[in-house]
Order: sequence, then structure tokens, then C-alpha cells
Amino acid sequence: MRKKIVAGNWKMNMTLEQSLALIKELKEELQDYQYNNTRVILAPSFVSLSAAVNETSKVNIEIAAQNMSQEERGAFTGEVSAEMLAAVGVDIVIIGHSERRTYFQEIDAGLKAKTKAALANNFDVIFCFGEQLEDRENKKHFEVVEQQLKNALFELEAEDFGNIILAYEPVWAIGTGKTASADEAQEMHAFIRSILAKQYNETLANSVSILYGGSVKPNNAAEIFSKSDVDGGLIGGASLKAKDFSEIVKAI
Ligand code: 13P
Repeated sequence: MRKKIVAGNWKMNMTLEQSLALIKELKEELQDYQYNNTRVILAPSFVSLSAAVNETSKVNIEIAAQNMSQEERGAFTGEVSAEMLAAVGVDIVIIGHSERRTYFQEIDAGLKAKTKAALANNFDVIFCFGEQLEDRENKKHFEVVEQQLKNALFELEAEDFGNIILAYEPVWAIGTGKTASADEAQEMHAFIRSILAKQYNETLANSVSILYGGSVKPNNAAEIFSKSDVDGGLIGGASLKAKDFSEIVKAI
């Protein structure tokens, strides 16, 4: 059975102190929550990762990084390697977020290299992709998404997908308060599964968790998560409030 996953991407928010306070609040909100088949993941900033790992060591919450270098080590000022993350107990990383693509010029080839580096270090990868508004208006959204996946992921071996979580995040829905409708999300997720089945096989396509991201809030999460091909969410703004995020977790 595919895992259900709710992941909070804190982006460039929360100091160390604030991060720990938020995790403590979340632990309280989720203390009676039965995780069963659900993974709850938080992605604080690099500087809070080590403390966040410690703070969550006795609960079911997992900690992810928001980015990672494709290089092993060396003269790459400002970068953080898989080895460094692993050493503080992190083995999940978000790769390909639209903000990294837009503001830091990350492109498919680099994302492919990062994904390979992460997998080589036994990380789980939350791989993000999604079309711009213009693509959707021009009815090119399926084409764009297929291309993004092909360029970055389709040279991977089938086994690698055991460590890949896909996150469909239409760029026009991120931080805008505008979500894809549950039907639009379902339509895209089913399409993604169909191209995975074509490239690999049906079993693989049915085993990969596909998350939706883009203005998921407590008031729309249940409807989006009710769709058969939506396995959870990647949450930005609402993950910064313990109450909102825990309500979203409980909506799955
Ligand atoms: P919002 O939930 O703030 O729209 O952000 C979504 C996102 O980018 C998660 O990675």
C-alpha cells in the first residue's frame, strides 16, 4: 500500500528557537494521533536540522532538508552535502522546489544530479515539479510536467523509485491562496501515474506516493486528500502554524 505523507516545507522561516517551539507545539497537537500508514515530515532550515532531529527523536515526525548539493565535498562555498545532512540524522531531502528553480536558476540537469546524489546516499527524495500559470492557460500543463519528470528522473532505475516521493506543485497555486481544485489535482496525479506506468511499469506507478502542494489549508485538505491518486500534501504557509498543520495531518 502506498504511504500517505504530509510534509511541511518551512522555507526560509523560523529561527532555531522558533523551530523548536513549533515542533513542541506540534508534538502536543499530534500526541494522540495514530500514524498508521502516514508519514509526517518537517523541513526546517539547515541551521535548525540537528536540533529538530533531536526534538523529534521520540515521536513519529521525520525531518527533511530543503535542498542539498550534488557534490560530495570540497570547494563549493555555501553548499551542504548529503554526508553533512546524514551526520546530523537527516535522510530526506526536498529537491526541485519551484522557488529553487525560479530564484536560484536550478534546472532539470542539476536536479537530476542532486537526485542521484541523494539516492546514492540512501536518502528519500521529495521531488517537486509543476507547471506555471501560463502553461496551464495554454493547455501545456501535462506536457510540461511530463518533460520535467523525464528530464530529471526517467534515467533512474525502477528500484530507485522506492525512495522517491513526487510532489506536484502547480506554481500558480504556491503561496497564492489559489489551489488546484481537487479534480484538477486528481487529473494530474492520474496522468503522472500513467507516465510512470508507461516508462516503468504499473506496479511501480501504483507504489509511488504523489503529493499535492499549493495553498493546502485546513479547510481544503480533506477534499484534496480524498482523491484516489493524491497521497498527501506538501504544505508551505499552513505548516508554520501547529494547529493548522496538525489539522491537515488529521485530514489525511
Ligand atoms: P503554500 O502551501 O504556502 O502554497 O506552499 C506550498 C509549497 O511551496 C510547499 O512546498
